[in-house]
Amino acid sequence: MTEFKELYVRKGSVAQDYIDIAQDIYVEINNYFKIIDCNLKFCRMMNKPRTELFGTSILDAIHEKDKIKFQNIIRNALLKKFKDGIIRSDLVDYKSRIIATTMKLNPILDDNNNIVGMFVKFSSFRLRVEDSAVNTIFMSIYNSLTDLYTIYGTDTKIRINHVNTSLLNILGYTRDEMMGRHVADFLVKNKDQEENIKKLFKSLESTGNFTGEVLYQAKNGEEIPIHLSISSLVHNGKVIGSLGIGRDMREQKRLESENKSFELKLQNQSKLAEFGMMLQGVAHNMSTPLTGIKSSAQLQHSRLIKFKDKLAEKYGEDREISDNITDIMKFFELIDQSVSKLSKIIKNMMSKSRDQQSLSKEALNLAYVMNQEIEFLYANQFFKNRVEKNISIQPDLPVIYGLYSDFSQSFVNIIKNGVDAMWDSPVKKMDIVMYYESGAIFVKIKDTGKGIPHDIADKIFDPFFTTKPKFKDAKGEEPNGTGLGLDSVRSLLKPYRAKITFESGPGKGTEFIIAIPVKENQTDLNN
Ligand SMILES: Nc1ncnc2c1ncn2[C@@H]1O[C@H](COP(=O)(O)OP(=O)(O)O)[C@@H](O)[C@H]1O
Ligand SMILES: [Mg+2]
Repeated sequence: MTEFKELYVRKGSVAQDYIDIAQDIYVEINNYFKIIDCNLKFCRMMNKPRTELFGTSILDAIHEKDKIKFQNIIRNALLKKFKDGIIRSDLVDYKSRIIATTMKLNPILDDNNNIVGMFVKFSSFRLRVEDSAVNTIFMSIYNSLTDLYTIYGTDTKIRINHVNTSLLNILGYTRDEMMGRHVADFLVKNKDQEENIKKLFKSLESTGNFTGEVLYQAKNGEEIPIHLSISSLVHNGKVIGSLGIGRDMREQKRLESENKSFELKLQNQSKLAEFGMMLQGVAHNMSTPLTGIKSSAQLQHSRLIKFKDKLAEKYGEDREISDNITDIMKFFELIDQSVSKLSKIIKNMMSKSRDQQSLSKEALNLAYVMNQEIEFLYANQFFKNRVEKNISIQPDLPVIYGLYSDFSQSFVNIIKNGVDAMWDSPVKKMDIVMYYESGAIFVKIKDTGKGIPHDIADKIFDPFFTTKPKFKDAKGEEPNGTGLGLDSVRSLLKPYRAKITFESGPGKGTEFIIAIPVKENQTDLNN
């Protein structure tokens, strides 16, 4: 309180000037509430010159509801019973408008240190709002919101005036780096974005609003899709700027693509099941005619034996005839053997498609699964004839519980990638090794293909990431891809806590290693 005593004593010089330019209202009253001095702010509020206000009662400016309280406080102050803290007291201006204020009191002393009056300072609420608790609370909410807030100035509508912490965190800039800059400075610069920015400007100009998705560019170069809506801030009928509210769309995008890949996988799975059923039908229908061919071949074979004996009996041994008949017999033997081979292939096909369709977990020997897959892959002429294969599979692997198709699909996806990678390599060698060691089954698939360049190594498991052309764009025998192979492997083997790693380099070939922990997969989840 000494602060204002000082000011008062030096009244008429610096203090008076200061008081006149102050934002607060200052009034000096005597013991009878009469005004002895005031600042310009108070004159303006009462719409009267200072001289006319002198001698009138301050109570005329105090709001009805606060008059009694005000008088009591002043009286107590005069008796040196000061009241501390914030005292609310509303003023009323000459147009009967209410001004919410808090007041502070300083006693005026005479030469004998008697209190002869009061120096009253009224501070308007609205002026103080900027450093008030309300503002602090508002700012901390604003900064902790996960949505991205930007306030743009009025000049060009999109020069940045304020940003909240979430936006700074996402983009990696400091507040200073963003202040006063144009929103376009933080967007990715490409054709689509140019169109977007044009739309944004147009829409802001004509409607004062914009809603759309834009690509921001973070300081580290990352492109971040943000759903942005900007709308004008109107205060007392005047546009004072605009407010942009953005939402980071990365998570949603990721979920969307995950859903899409999941849907595609489901589609593929149902197609696979359909195909499997068709295959079983075909195989079943083929077995009848094949049995027919086989038994006629055998019948002809045994008839020829008899025929040969009869001929010898009747006409004696004839070397030439006997050799001819033996040749024909060999021909029927060949038919018989080929039909046996065909039947075996069909039987394999049927059992594989039956295994493939199994929807419940069962005890699996992964060596059996792998051998079945490899046998099936022999239908691929490139794999069968052009790739040199070294296969070393430990037959007595520990049994684990799982879905047959989870493993068969994973194995085949990785083998196919290796085969694809060797498409135009001079050396085409594939090693497939399986063994059990220290608690895990290891599956190693190694190719001498073109390898995986370092800069894409962390992307190959992403859904839809592929370096191969689409099926319809592939030329001739060129391998095609969807980018879903490794994504499937990862999600199919995740429930088994399998670790998938790879080692590769351009020109070095690639080795994928799957390690499947045995203990974790030995409890049958279905029981
Ligand atoms: N053995 C490998 N050798 C070289 N590149 C590979 C190998 N395996 C995977 N890749 C790379 O990973 C990408 C993604 O593989 P994948 O998810 O199976 O999809 P797709 O085979 O349909 O392209 C491939 O396009 C390829 O660039
Ligand atoms: Mg693939």
